[in-house]
Amino acid sequence: PTIHFILQDGSTRAVEAEAGASLMETAIRANVRGIDAECGGLCSCATCHVYVAEACIARLPAPDGEEEAMLDFVAAERRPGSRLSCQIQLTEALEGLTVQVPPTQS
Ligand code: FES
Repeated sequence: PTIHFILQDGSTRAVEAEAGASLMETAIRANVRGIDAECGGLCSCATCHVYVAEACIARLPAPDGEEEAMLDFVAAERRPGSRLSCQIQLTEALEGLTVQVPPTQS
């Protein structure tokens, strides 16, 4: 699926993702700036935080308890679309998913 990242400078980058990869892996592989992912996807660092675009929130399964708890530790403001990108598994059905990189991860 093609994923759209809104970067910290306001520009948008379209990245071709592999189904089965996580959103975090996709961002790291494509060198999307502003996704740190210090724990490597273990849901224990909260530095892979993204804001899912409002129109896309309902396309994703809700965060599980572990992710929900970790979302309290994101460095930037937590908003309704806040998610940990390592916990989002991409599928073809998520074509066009749009997420914004927060201003900071630390
Ligand atoms: Fe650490 Fe997602 S990579 S919580």
